[in-house]
Amino acid sequence: MYNLLKGKKGIIFGALDAKSIAWKTALACHAEGAEILLTNAPIAMRMGEINKLAEIINAPVIPCDVTSNDDMLNLFTKAKEHFGGGVDFILHSIGMSMNVRKGKHYTEIDYAFNQKSLDISATSLHRLLATAIKLDAINEWGSVVALTYIASQRVFPDYNEMADAKALLESITRSFGYHYAVKKHVRVNTVSQSPTRTTAGSGVKGFDGFINYAEKMSPLGNASAEDCANYCVTLFSDLTRMVTMQNLFHDGGFSYTGVTTGVIEQMEK
Ligand SMILES: NC(=O)c1ccc[n+]([C@@H]2O[C@H](COP(=O)([O-])OP(=O)(O)OC[C@H]3O[C@@H](n4cnc5c(N)ncnc54)[C@H](O)[C@@H]3O)[C@@H](O)[C@H]2O)c1
Repeated sequence: MYNLLKGKKGIIFGALDAKSIAWKTALACHAEGAEILLTNAPIAMRMGEINKLAEIINAPVIPCDVTSNDDMLNLFTKAKEHFGGGVDFILHSIGMSMNVRKGKHYTEIDYAFNQKSLDISATSLHRLLATAIKLDAINEWGSVVALTYIASQRVFPDYNEMADAKALLESITRSFGYHYAVKKHVRVNTVSQSPTRTTAGSGVKGFDGFINYAEKMSPLGNASAEDCANYCVTLFSDLTRMVTMQNLFHDGGFSYTGVTTGVIEQMEK
């Protein structure tokens, strides 16, 4: 360990169970010396898993449904009380598609579901940042990271409406990133992660084919959740102070690979 986050305080959204990227990131941040506050939707917290993580890293847990302005306000107010001031980093590791859950094809989505999906998966980042800026809850040179997927830029048909949600998430990252940088030197980035076996990830139709294909198409192979957690640690650290408004690929080279010999050999069979 490098003590990269010694003395830093952070909020981690989205640790559902031990497979969650947020769970691994909380462990990695703790190992690097950070103090953490955990949060998730009240319904996810009822499953009780998050309390195990809270115990391991000695973190308080405050419920927050990210579609609720009141919950968000309450979370940041309590976080300020708990830490005696602002935080240095925040992980937004949240995604949910109502239409995928209900088995709706992209060409036939239900728009009420769609609104909910966009609210949870993308607008929530705006709500988070807007609440933080209003309460002055992020310290100078703080860092906010949200997780995304390359389906925002290229078509992966079964990613469905989440592709649109991720495109919006990345746009909010740029737009709010500008304002927060000017106002308080706070940086905002997205990490575009390889397919990863988690509860949200496995919800994508044909996930096994999807993850195996990505593995074959990535010169380094798929990036694991642990690797993603380590990357997030660097983005929360002072070593990346001038990086903001970026979509950063963390995918073993997948995003810039046209084809690999492994895939060619597979096609020749
Ligand atoms: N797993 C993958 O293949 C993959 C790839 C790229 C990006 N991502 C992104 O990583 C992030 C984390 O997902 P994960 O794969 O760790 O899965 P996960 O299922 O462990 O995490 C998703 C989290 O979103 C939370 N959530 C859903 N609705 C919420 C609400 N209304 N309020 C607050 N929280 C809510 C869930 O409770 C859960 O903790 C997501 O943004 C996902 O899209 C995942």
